[in-house]
Amino acid sequence: MKHPIFAANWKMNQGPADALAFMRQFLAQYPRQQDRSVLIFPSALSLSAVTGALSDRPDIQVGVQNIHWADTGAYTGENSAAIARGAGARYVLIGHSERRHVFGETDEETGKKAAAAERAGLTSMICIGETLAQREAGDTSTVVLRQLRAACALLTAHQIAGSLVAYEPVWAIGSGKTATPEDASIVHAAIRSELRSLTEERGEGVPILYGGSVSKGNAVSLLAAPDVDGLLVGGASLDPDGWSAICRT
Ligand code: PGA
Repeated sequence: MKHPIFAANWKMNQGPADALAFMRQFLAQYPRQQDRSVLIFPSALSLSAVTGALSDRPDIQVGVQNIHWADTGAYTGENSAAIARGAGARYVLIGHSERRHVFGETDEETGKKAAAAERAGLTSMICIGETLAQREAGDTSTVVLRQLRAACALLTAHQIAGSLVAYEPVWAIGSGKTATPEDASIVHAAIRSELRSLTEERGEGVPILYGGSVSKGNAVSLLAAPDVDGLLVGGASLDPDGWSAICRT
C-alpha cells in the first residue's frame, strides 16, 4: 500500500501575498489526509507565509528549492541550510534540473549541498534526470545513477536512507511531454536498485517521485506505476484547484 508524496515546486512564482491566498484556497479544498503527504517548495521569501498558514496541518510540510553548501560566510545572495531550517523549511530540493542547466550546478556541488542539508537537519529531495540527447543516446540510467551517486557521495548509508529522490527527465520538465508510466517505472527500478547498494540494503523505503509535466490528467497513471512513490509537480502546482485535485489522486 503506497503512502504517496505530492510535492509542489513553485519555482520563481508566488510572492508572500499570492502564497498566502493560494494556501487559504488550497487548504479549504484539501482536508487533512492520513494516507498521503504533501510538500510545498515555495520561494524562500514566501516560506513564512506558507508555514504561517499551516499551523494545524502536520500532513503538509515545506521546503526550499536550493541552499548553499557552506554553513555561513561571504556568499551574498545565498541561503544556508540552517537559515532555511530557521525560516521553517524541513526539506530542500538538491540538484533540480534548472539549477544544473540554467545555473551550471555540478554533480560535486549537489553532493556538498546534500551534506550541508544533513548538518542543518533538512531532508534532501535529490533531483536527477537525463536530457533528451542523453536519452536518445541510450545513456539514461548511466546519467541518472551517476547524478544519484554524486549527490550521495558525502552521505552515510543511514542519511541516504532518510532522503527522497525525484526522477525528472529534463525533456519532460515544463514541456508538456511526460515519460510514460512504463518508462518512469524502468528508471525508478534502476534508481531503487542503486539505492539498495548505496544504503547497504536500507534503501527500500526511500520514496522515489516522478516529475516532469505532471498534470491532473496523468497523475493517476503515473502514480499507479511500480516504484513511483509520489509526484513532483511544477506548473500544475500553481493553481490551488488543480493542485488539490492532484493531491487527492
Ligand atoms: P513541471 O516542473 O511540472 O512544470 O514540468 C516539474 C519540476 O521542475 O519540478
